[in-house]
Amino acid sequence: MASYSPLRMHDQEYQPEDSGEEAILLPSKGFISEPPKADPASKWTTRATLGLSVLVVACACALYVTSASISRPRNVYGLRQPDQHPGLEFSHELGRKGPMMYFPGAIVRVNKASPDQVYTSSSHVILSDDDSMFFQWHLHKSKFTSCYIDSVVPTPEDGYAANKTYTSSGSLTQIQIWNVTTPTKSMKSLSWNSRPQRIALMGTVAFLPEKEKIEQLELEDGWQSLMPTRFSCGEKATVSIEVTCEGCRLEFEQLFSDPPLAFDLMEIG
Ligand SMILES: *[C@@H]1O[C@H](CO)[C@@H](O)[C@H](O)[C@H]1NC(C)=O
Ligand SMILES: *[C@@H]1O[C@H](CO)[C@@H](O)[C@H](O)[C@H]1NC(C)=O
Repeated sequence: MASYSPLRMHDQEYQPEDSGEEAILLPSKGFISEPPKADPASKWTTRATLGLSVLVVACACALYVTSASISRPRNVYGLRQPDQHPGLEFSHELGRKGPMMYFPGAIVRVNKASPDQVYTSSSHVILSDDDSMFFQWHLHKSKFTSCYIDSVVPTPEDGYAANKTYTSSGSLTQIQIWNVTTPTKSMKSLSWNSRPQRIALMGTVAFLPEKEKIEQLELEDGWQSLMPTRFSCGEKATVSIEVTCEGCRLEFEQLFSDPPLAFDLMEIG
């Protein structure tokens, strides 16, 4: 299969808002045998941890590059950035090596039944006949000029092992992805009444683990380039979308951790 192994990077604008998380790196299995010792009082420890995390990311990157052709389709390494600055150049560097999978910078619910209720960006994703979700990415310049929006769902075993599960009802094979207007202000909070307006239906995606997606939708090699949600990218841009599910319900926490359970933006290599 000609699929690639996208690296999963934090959107640089994204700041976890609902928790005081300070973890720089979520170690993938096998990378760190000992957890780094927590000693926040020491400046040196902090620096050493930062240095170590850069090293580990570099190793993960090197491994990604060397294993891209032989590894399983999804071999994803999570990276948490402590703030907007460290790692910025580094992620740029990573972006030059392989296609990336981007976590959204904003994840905002709106609810038709409470049209004035303002929701702020949070990890809680809920889709129903009354609930829509808005996602936004700030893209930087990239050599990859084709992108698509898709769900990324772990296998049930991987999901349970990582506490990444979801609840749903109805069919999840026709989740609609709409291109919407980008609000002039930041999209960190929205209500139904202030929601961005739909421009066009980009396409539908299935919320299924990759293997099932390929089987159920009878996808062929290179299916990524045929994704209905595909669009041109590669320039600095802001992408804002609405995700809706007609006649179905889906609820989960979209957290920046491994394995991804998410609506993400993918570059095509
Ligand atoms: C598992 O995830 C749920 C929701 O995502 C969270 O409320 C719960 O605290 C998590 N449990 C553990 C053991 O991390
Ligand atoms: C969304 O629509 C705008 C306005 O027509 C267009 O410029 C932009 O390229 C579209 N974005 C995507 C991701 O399709």
